[in-house]
Amino acid sequence: MNAPLQNPHHRPSTKAAVQKCIAADCGASHGITEQIYVCRKCGGPLEIDCHLETFPDPASFRQIWKMRAASQDPRDRSGVWRHREVLPFEDHAPIVTLFEGNTPIYGAPKCARYAGLRSLTLKHQGNNPTGSFKDTGMTAAVTQAVILGARAVVCASTGNTAASLAAYAARANLKCVVLLPEGQTSPAKIAQSMDYGAIILEVAGNFDDCMRLTHELADVPWIYIANSVNPFRIEGQKTVAYELMVQSDWKVPDHVVVPGGNMGNSSAMGKGFDEMRRMGLIDRLPKLSIIQVEGASPLAQLFSKHMQSDSGIEDLQLAQIETVARPRTLATAIRIGAPVSWKKALRAVLQSNGNVISVSEPELADAKAMVGLEGIGCEPASAAAVAGIRKLVAQEQIGKDESVVAVLTGHVLKDPDYVSQYHRGALSLEPDRDGKTQPIVGAFRNSAVRVAAAKDAIVEILRREL
Ligand code: F0G
Repeated sequence: MNAPLQNPHHRPSTKAAVQKCIAADCGASHGITEQIYVCRKCGGPLEIDCHLETFPDPASFRQIWKMRAASQDPRDRSGVWRHREVLPFEDHAPIVTLFEGNTPIYGAPKCARYAGLRSLTLKHQGNNPTGSFKDTGMTAAVTQAVILGARAVVCASTGNTAASLAAYAARANLKCVVLLPEGQTSPAKIAQSMDYGAIILEVAGNFDDCMRLTHELADVPWIYIANSVNPFRIEGQKTVAYELMVQSDWKVPDHVVVPGGNMGNSSAMGKGFDEMRRMGLIDRLPKLSIIQVEGASPLAQLFSKHMQSDSGIEDLQLAQIETVARPRTLATAIRIGAPVSWKKALRAVLQSNGNVISVSEPELADAKAMVGLEGIGCEPASAAAVAGIRKLVAQEQIGKDESVVAVLTGHVLKDPDYVSQYHRGALSLEPDRDGKTQPIVGAFRNSAVRVAAAKDAIVEILRREL
């Protein structure tokens, strides 16, 4: 096996990395090995500060990251650890990796046409080891759990975080406990957690209840919480922005659009781009936009309320989110009414002049089918990005000639029931308070055709179709 490619210009200044409170009136710093998830002083959200501005020659990273892609060393093969200069770990850290990252970018001409764009790029995070973007964060969070000597790792999840944590915990020989909202998680995702040996607790409540429980468990010293409140998760996930820039030959897209649930992904993308700009690796930020689904869109509601008010976006940073008590959407991955990382995510959107909007259930369903027609496919929540881009183009927030990247967050096989119900015309949103269901009549349905076991019958059908 090749030796890992060392960066001659890198000095291990990440030793000095700290966990920093993002609250403007606090900014307290905490040690990198303190097992905390919020600021000890004010309870605000934490993020890791690697003191990137002290790096002597960040421009050299571009070349070394590109070269590492051809190396066979485990750290270089991971799309996350390949960018280790910007991660808060020592060079000899006991990394737990499944060779995450390295996800492809695709040109998507059909989705582009559908959205009203000249071209559109899809960055498919569903091509990670457990089929979702969570793996890029989990490799960092579980590595930190090992460093801290945790005995068990725990998360609340709508399914993907759980599957990912279960896999990385299995690699690290750690006990894993996942809290899932009962009856609201795709069976395919639960099956993954079962297979990776996690203790699966189906909680009588929704995701937000599960999240509350992890907050309560956070003071048990031998338990390590791996949700995206954990700033190490964000460190891993931010490398997706770096990887995208390497893949794009450092041409900054005009827009990067992501679905939003608990808002870890958007926070991480924002942090990645901001860091690259501060290090001079890029000269501007892409506009970062977050797309939610109407029935689970607390941040989109807050954003649109402020856009329409006289105060506009000026005091949005000081505003408080109104949580949605009973979030509803068929995109169960983002069925979240009280997103934990909304402040970080909103900061990234405002800093980059992006947007936060919501799309309807049918808009999302058709956009998902369109990603499928590219021969690519994604899980429902991911398609919010494509549906959102279409809406932002229609609202002239995105110009048809602008360069746009949609981040697809999960693999098409994450929720096969949704896919087949869409194509069979059997998809419908659960009853609302008044007991009304909302059937979704997909524009791109493609159900199976029954046919006699006879050549003529098959040829006849093909004649009609072709
Ligand atoms: N897309 C998929 C496929 C997801 O699984 C999630 C979140 C999101 C988008 C939203 O990302 O939370 O960072 O804003 N899934 C979490 C989970 C909540 O438990 O798997 P976010």
